[in-house]
Amino acid sequence: MKILVTGGLGFIGSNFIRYMLRRYPSVRIVNLDKQTYAGNPASLRDVEEDPRYRYHRGDICDAEAVDKAIRGVDAVAHFAAESHVDKSILDAGAFLQTNVIGTQILLDAALRHEVGRFLHVSTDEVYGSVAKGHSTEDDPLLPNSPYAASKAASDLLVRSYIVTHKLPAVVSRASNNFGPYQYPEKALPLLITNFLDDVPFPLYGDGRNVRDWLYVLDHARALDLILREGEIGGIYNVGGSYSSTNRELIDRVRRLMDKPRDLVRRVPDRPGHDRRYALDCSKLRRLGWRPETEFRRALADTIGWYRTNETWWRSLKLKGGYRDYYKKQYGKRGKS
Ligand code: NAD
Ligand code: DAU
Repeated sequence: MKILVTGGLGFIGSNFIRYMLRRYPSVRIVNLDKQTYAGNPASLRDVEEDPRYRYHRGDICDAEAVDKAIRGVDAVAHFAAESHVDKSILDAGAFLQTNVIGTQILLDAALRHEVGRFLHVSTDEVYGSVAKGHSTEDDPLLPNSPYAASKAASDLLVRSYIVTHKLPAVVSRASNNFGPYQYPEKALPLLITNFLDDVPFPLYGDGRNVRDWLYVLDHARALDLILREGEIGGIYNVGGSYSSTNRELIDRVRRLMDKPRDLVRRVPDRPGHDRRYALDCSKLRRLGWRPETEFRRALADTIGWYRTNETWWRSLKLKGGYRDYYKKQYGKRGKS
């Protein structure tokens, strides 16, 4: 099977590619990635010489680049996106461009090239905040951040191609991923890498927002299954085995890393901050998947990974773009 992966230099895409190459000796992967600030070739250094892997630097909004990359593939796994909520609040433009227009260009190419399967990788954020219970795949989409709105728009676009053009597509909606190779703007890698430097972590609001935590390799396994065996036109929620408030999670990490309480500083809340996400994953469980990684083990492994792979994250944190963003995002919030 030959798969076009978009956004394969990002956090989840790179873990997915590595997983697929390990699991399937005969798989071939074409990775189309624009190499934005979040796309890092170092995340796939260990596979770049693998003859089954090919990298195309390119933008999913560029129909010609997509046309070249998609030629002869059996399936598409579409990860490429602008993915950080805080950045979408600062400036939504790139989110609409990549997440919506880019998806449309990819869908058109998939139709033209008669691709056998199209997996659209989406998020639980499209359901919005859920006060009680768990979101099912049939729930209405009520996105609250520009990021979530752009992902919801792309989900609806995929749906329209399934219904109108009979595109053989499936959609996955996952919760908060964590693990190796995650860009240190997201809460967990920011927390761990700040703690490694004894720099405070900026906690938004009262810290009682609830998130469901999914280890990235459990997600990769789920995506592999959905891609191969998901019902065409189907949507599958993918949640982890651990749900907690941000405070609880941070406290766990703080104790595991043996850091003092004052290394967590409260800062003003994220505008429109969703209070709680929770997923009903029974549909995917019926397909035969469940999270296999024990949360405590995965969290300890993740901390260990950032500890031993300092060059990977430090080179990102030292870049001008990261520092400018950090100042813009946290400077005014009283963060040191
Ligand atoms: P990421 O930001 O780490 O990586 C995104 C990748 O897409 C980068 O390599 C970037 O260079 C590439 N990219 C961005 N714009 C592009 C464009 N126009 N053309 C080609 N490549 C482009 O993101 P991630 O956390 O790995 O998320 C991957 C996907 O999974 C996204 O679609 C996201 O919405 C979804 N998702 C993420 C999470 C999470 O917790 N991180 C959870 C659920 C769903
Ligand atoms: O739920 C899936 C989504 O998870 C994905 O679709 C997104 O791509 C991914 O970024 C993530 O979104 P969140 O906004 O939930 O993740 P983030 O890591 O940014 O924040 C997790 C929680 O931590 C959230 O409640 C906000 C809080 N937080 C985050 C940052 C960056 C802080 O308190 N301080 C921070 O500095």
